[in-house]
Amino acid sequence: MATERKRKVRFSDVVEVISSKKLARPINVLLSMNRWNGRPYTQRYYDILDKRKTLPVWSQKDEFVKQLKNNQTLILVGETGSGKTTQIPQFVLEAVDLENQSNQKKYMIACTQPRRVAAMSVSHRVADEMDVTIGEEVGYSIRFEDCSSSRTVLKYLTDGMLLREAMTDPLLERYKVIVLDEAHERTLAMDVLFGLLKEVLKNRPDLKLVVMSAALEAEKFQGYFFDAPLMKVPGRLHPVEIFYTKQPEEDYLQAVIRTVLQIHTCETPGDILVFLTGEEEIEDACRKINKEVGNFGDTVGPLEVVPLYSTLPPLMQQKIFEPAPPPFTENGPAGRKVVISTNIAETSLTIDGIVYVIDAGFSKQKVYNPLDRVESLLVSPISKANAHQRSGRAGRTQPGKCFRLYTEKSFNNDLQPQTSPEILRSNLAHTILTLKRLGIGDLVHFDFMDPPAPETIVRALEDLNYLGALDDEGYLTELGDIMSEFPLDPQMAKMLVVSPEFNCSNEILSLSAMLSVPNCFIRPSDAQKAADEAKARFGHIDGDQLTLLNVYHAYKHNNEDQLWCYENFVNHDALKSADNVRQQLARIMYRCNLKLCSTNFNSRDYYVNIRKAMLSGYFMQVAHLEHTGHYLTVKENQVVLLDSSNCLNHKPEWVIYNEYVLTTRNFIRIVTDVRGEWLVDIAPHYYDLHNFPECEAKLTLEKLNKKREREKGCTTGIKGVSNKATSL
Ligand code: CDP
Ligand code: MG
Repeated sequence: MATERKRKVRFSDVVEVISSKKLARPINVLLSMNRWNGRPYTQRYYDILDKRKTLPVWSQKDEFVKQLKNNQTLILVGETGSGKTTQIPQFVLEAVDLENQSNQKKYMIACTQPRRVAAMSVSHRVADEMDVTIGEEVGYSIRFEDCSSSRTVLKYLTDGMLLREAMTDPLLERYKVIVLDEAHERTLAMDVLFGLLKEVLKNRPDLKLVVMSAALEAEKFQGYFFDAPLMKVPGRLHPVEIFYTKQPEEDYLQAVIRTVLQIHTCETPGDILVFLTGEEEIEDACRKINKEVGNFGDTVGPLEVVPLYSTLPPLMQQKIFEPAPPPFTENGPAGRKVVISTNIAETSLTIDGIVYVIDAGFSKQKVYNPLDRVESLLVSPISKANAHQRSGRAGRTQPGKCFRLYTEKSFNNDLQPQTSPEILRSNLAHTILTLKRLGIGDLVHFDFMDPPAPETIVRALEDLNYLGALDDEGYLTELGDIMSEFPLDPQMAKMLVVSPEFNCSNEILSLSAMLSVPNCFIRPSDAQKAADEAKARFGHIDGDQLTLLNVYHAYKHNNEDQLWCYENFVNHDALKSADNVRQQLARIMYRCNLKLCSTNFNSRDYYVNIRKAMLSGYFMQVAHLEHTGHYLTVKENQVVLLDSSNCLNHKPEWVIYNEYVLTTRNFIRIVTDVRGEWLVDIAPHYYDLHNFPECEAKLTLEKLNKKREREKGCTTGIKGVSNKATSL
């Protein structure tokens, strides 16, 4: 491989191509070499190049290059599909000199994406366009996966990853140009990057920034980015006819299925793109559509139903780019592709050939209430801007139709013009830990484009203080410094960092990995009983986290076997990815000098230690069983229900939970039984009863404390667990 990589083009190669019968290009073109790997271009390169040249951004290539040379910051707006993500970084590569005189290293170009899927998919496409191998000259970097090398000149990475890179490279010195793509998405990491990059640009006159977007509040961005020039790429959108429902739909999933079938049976050829909210719903819709269309037999053309959501394995994601199936018979009705997607397909990924769009009007959005500390994903109505983007997907190649499954009145009166930026509806603990690590102590004066509410900042500072990551003055502690090394939320990072003290870091590593990947349990509709029985075999009566650990151990014990996974209704991809995450986290543990250790499996303390370590991270996510039979979250006193998927065989008095799900009722998911005594031992600051709201949990804890003191009076030398929040 290494010799092949270095191989420069030889004269004999050229002769070989010239003498081949397939010669489709004049000799002078054939002689042009790929600047990046020194090889002659393949025929495929030229084929793609022809297509690329028809993209709207190509008509403005010279103008773009000129503007880039003359300005430090540039804002570029263009319709989805105009070629921003794939072409602009390549124009940048052509325009700038990547030689770094001072240390003889080459600079890189970064292009950030809000979504992992887009970073992966687009980098593959661009590697093809540049006729290079992915991971070499063109690469990508997403959380827990780095597919780049020392040869990489163009790297697509999630905005979160660029922010992490800034922790070790504050001036982002490895980059010559940074392209922030999809700026209208306003993810949490992106908003922080905006503020950070403004500072970096002041300190690095040689660095350039390009901010790109499909639809952005241009003036607001220009105002924020030093009045940077704005380039508009003319759209090439065909007209899209919009249809609304006459009455509000009671069940939008049913309406989606009905509309897909109507289009397939009545409308002219052209693919369909459906917008729904999440994995489960999408898989459900795929199954139902397949079933219904089966009833039509071959009176209609073949219908290929393709799901698209962020946790879908990459191979499956590729299916969205495949053409529609051919007709069953030569003169039979045309085949059609229907892609059922989350809002990924709104702007992040362009799917060609879409003529019909079905918009259910909802997406999963993060919501956060600092008062009750709950952050959750909630299915919420989209904004007008989203609706506009969605309908636009129908008119990329020819005039199209968009079916909005809500009334026109609802569109006009109920939908907000824009979705509010994520920073205004998120728990900021992780972000603030990152900012503190970046040396930004003064959060009040940080140049946020939209400053978050003071309560949210205060709450995050408070949480980090309880976790021991910040001291009482708000400075990063040694523990906080180590926690920030992990690309995890602060609670999980804390659990991991203190796990060696509980002699169970191996197990907590596995658990953290399992909690960082998509749900591993599969429950097909035609085999629910068998799937539930399989899950029960892994079940640990004390909780779901311990069950996840059992699954991971069983997977390793069975040599990561795919057939074993299939037979046991667990998702092989999810487990494989957990294994990868575990390795990455173990590397960080090693770098931070954190010991990898386990309690003897036969010891009674094996699971006790694991549960205690979990509690050291998640002590702010505890619920107490009231005498009424309900659970109340501790301190916030919200009524919550245990999600029915749990593995417990009893109703524990105290549980820690991993997720809080807001629907019509509030659920807690992934729960484990913990002991009341541990709460006070492990997190005495948080469980200081002097500032506790009056509730049953408080009374119980008071009783426990009294019992403790009595015991202490009688016996001396009881060994308690030290206060992990402040140690290290
Ligand atoms: O970023 P923007 O929405 O402006 O466009 P893009 O993502 O650069 O896509 C431009 C064109 O590249 C699309 O219309 C597709 O024809 C093509 N493309 C592709 O064929 N396969 C991909 N994985 C990505 C893009
Ligand atoms: Mg794009």
